[in-house]
Amino acid sequence: MINRTAIEKAKEQLGKLLEAQMERVEKLKAAPDWIDYSKISPIKIGILPGDGIGPYIAAEAERVLRYMLDEEIKSGKIYINTIEGLTIENRAAHNKAIPDDVLEEIKKYHVTLKGPTTTPRKGDPWPNIESCNVAMRKELDLFANVRPVRVPKQGIDWVFFRENTEDLYALGPYGIDVGEDIAIDFRLCTSPGAERIIRMAFDYAKRNGRTKVTCVTKANVVKTTDGKFLEIFYKIAKEYPDIQADDWYIDIMTAKLVDEKRRREFQVLVMPNMWGDILTDEAAEFQGGVGTAGAANIGKQYAMFEAIHGSAPRMVQEGRAQYADPASMIRAAAMLINHIGYVEKAKKLEMALDICGQYEKKLVITGRPTGATGKEFTDYLIDWLNNPKLQETWEGYVKG
Ligand code: IPM
Ligand code: MG
Repeated sequence: MINRTAIEKAKEQLGKLLEAQMERVEKLKAAPDWIDYSKISPIKIGILPGDGIGPYIAAEAERVLRYMLDEEIKSGKIYINTIEGLTIENRAAHNKAIPDDVLEEIKKYHVTLKGPTTTPRKGDPWPNIESCNVAMRKELDLFANVRPVRVPKQGIDWVFFRENTEDLYALGPYGIDVGEDIAIDFRLCTSPGAERIIRMAFDYAKRNGRTKVTCVTKANVVKTTDGKFLEIFYKIAKEYPDIQADDWYIDIMTAKLVDEKRRREFQVLVMPNMWGDILTDEAAEFQGGVGTAGAANIGKQYAMFEAIHGSAPRMVQEGRAQYADPASMIRAAAMLINHIGYVEKAKKLEMALDICGQYEKKLVITGRPTGATGKEFTDYLIDWLNNPKLQETWEGYVKG
């Protein structure tokens, strides 16, 4: 039996979603251009500790950030402050992904450094609110999720440009139950949305001397949205004749990342949101796991930097939060420092992270009392930042 009432109700709901997206597309087309941090004083950096292991690793990341930007903080060029309230307890109490007053506060800062935050799902003790990462990406229009993965000794040097505001994520909370037996979700790709992330990937390649950009889709099966993304990719590629453009399907791409011979060929990769979510977790594993990877969520006006992993509530329940690896969030801090214009300082921090996490490894984090605490690891890192032989040592390791 065809349930016409359910179909009509679903059509109406879909109509509303489309109206909202059409308004959004108009806003995207009219959005202001890139903010210029060199003209801003002070640059305001907000720290969002998050929940679970978040406050533990955020404290270490903030310590490193303040150390790196000490001079600028003293001269008043940079202002750093903690923004309260982005915890699962407070979000649940307001039944909102980001409580209004917290969002208002966040918007007063140019950039934020964010600890992991718990994302509830059906059946959890929390109300099933939207992920606050996803909400923040949408609210601040942080359309580019930039995730670098580097393992110099294996020749791996990838930068992923994951679209951050569309795809399955955009309408994730707005799927429709049609009658009792059918559930349907929607996947979104808009022209301005695809264009801006693809252009950003090519611009990055051009600025950084990279020679190839790879697009990842499943356009053979998901024909409309991924089809559009891929079509726009090759259209924009024509504007960059010196950069090679190719594309892979997500399934074979996940396989090729494990292929030692082929994986070095990838340089800059661009993809819709969901494929990027999956692929960047896989990629981070080569570098030592998601605990070591940072992510930049970049928009033209705001930017947010975070660890790519979750809040690990189990570590807190088991009393192990102090053993959580802060390297992911410190990598995110390095990306923040780079983004606001202190390129050399960011490089230095990355070198120290490589030495401590991948080469010398005098202290190892295991997440348990068998390893170092986050605080001990950060002290070790700061010792290296103070060491005049930092660059020389790093170069020695990389050359092997
Ligand atoms: C990430 C995370 C988030 C995502 C979750 C926490 C919603 O996995 O940043 O990759 O899926 O984007
Ligand atoms: Mg993820």
